[in-house]
Amino acid sequence: MKVLCRNLEQDRERAMISSWPFVICLVLLVSMPVVFVLAHRILMPTTLPGIPDMDEADDVALFRRATLASAGGGGSAGLRRRPPSAPKIAFLFLTNSDLTFAPLWERFFRGHERLFNVYVHADPAARLLLSPTPSFLGRFIPAKATKRASPTLISAARRLLAAALVDDPANAFFALLSQHCVPLHSFRFTYRALLADPGAPPTPTGFRRHRRSYIEILSGEPGLRDRYVARGDDVMIHEVPFEQFRVGSQFFVLARRHAVLVVRDRRLWKKFKMPCLKSMADSCYPEEHYFPTLLEMQDPQGCTRYTLTRVNWTDSVGGHPHTYRPPEISASLINRLRRSNSTYSYLFARKFSPDCLDPLLKLADSVIFQD
Ligand SMILES: *[C@@H]1O[C@H](CO)[C@@H](O)[C@H](O)[C@H]1NC(C)=O
Ligand SMILES: *[C@@H]1O[C@H](CO)[C@@H](O)[C@H](O)[C@H]1NC(C)=O
Repeated sequence: MKVLCRNLEQDRERAMISSWPFVICLVLLVSMPVVFVLAHRILMPTTLPGIPDMDEADDVALFRRATLASAGGGGSAGLRRRPPSAPKIAFLFLTNSDLTFAPLWERFFRGHERLFNVYVHADPAARLLLSPTPSFLGRFIPAKATKRASPTLISAARRLLAAALVDDPANAFFALLSQHCVPLHSFRFTYRALLADPGAPPTPTGFRRHRRSYIEILSGEPGLRDRYVARGDDVMIHEVPFEQFRVGSQFFVLARRHAVLVVRDRRLWKKFKMPCLKSMADSCYPEEHYFPTLLEMQDPQGCTRYTLTRVNWTDSVGGHPHTYRPPEISASLINRLRRSNSTYSYLFARKFSPDCLDPLLKLADSVIFQD
């Protein structure tokens, strides 16, 4: 009996020992997915790329200079330095490919050299094959990488605004454009339309009018909530409550005081510079929200709430608007693109494929620059 018992005990012991590898295997097997998920989290970030720290540091320095430069007076106590010339329009080109329509812009600019400046931010990764035409020559500002679905497009626009603020105190309006944009009117018409804004609110003294910014500001658009939480739930709180979150075209014309306001901003930028979650990539268009939200919060009366850049969203694919091709270019297209539903005319339009240059040049004097 005793012998039998001992044998039984030994058997049990042996069984336990032989099951150890099995237990270890089981534990490993169960923990594998956990380890995998953790490793994935660490090696594969859950967010899209954000702003590199070095770019951000350079920008902060540039924006500080722009803010100081625009504080006016260059140190002369309280006395605002008068702009040394007539108000100018700063044309800010944000591009990641060749400025194919430069010859059309040259015709647009010709004869108005005292009334405008050109600034170009070209993605350093872009290989520009065309050599710059006279108005664009030497007008490229120090640029950094830009990507869709990232706050880098906001940074590039702010960089252009800052460069233009520092460069010329006469810059009164700042028009953001892309390489796919074309003018719809003559320079003279464009200049007058911007400067003689009948809706501009009077300044407190009543003698002059505040210039308004031409920026689209929309609320209650479908999908706005998804775009609001694109960086994660609740991350925009408290600086940007959902009720104050706005959307609008990336392409605007800002009055100088609003350009200053944009390069001075730190409060909203802290939120908008955060990268989107990868899972929200389809709702990640920070450049369509930052500017309208900021201006709506700071100076709603000072904005027209509409954009001057016409775009055709009919049958858009993957967030890209309709791209006009050469067979579509005609006098009647130009006239249709100019027409808006209100009291103003569109001044610019996008988006045009590069091979539209020739048909557009053919229409330049007879249609586009005829107001
Ligand atoms: C807008 O694009 C659509 C095709 O996507 C085209 O049929 C329509 O004519 C365009 N509208 C204008 C005003 O060009
Ligand atoms: C004008 O309004 C009509 C009707 O609301 C709309 O279909 C059309 O797209 C609008 N046109 C422009 C240029 O906004």
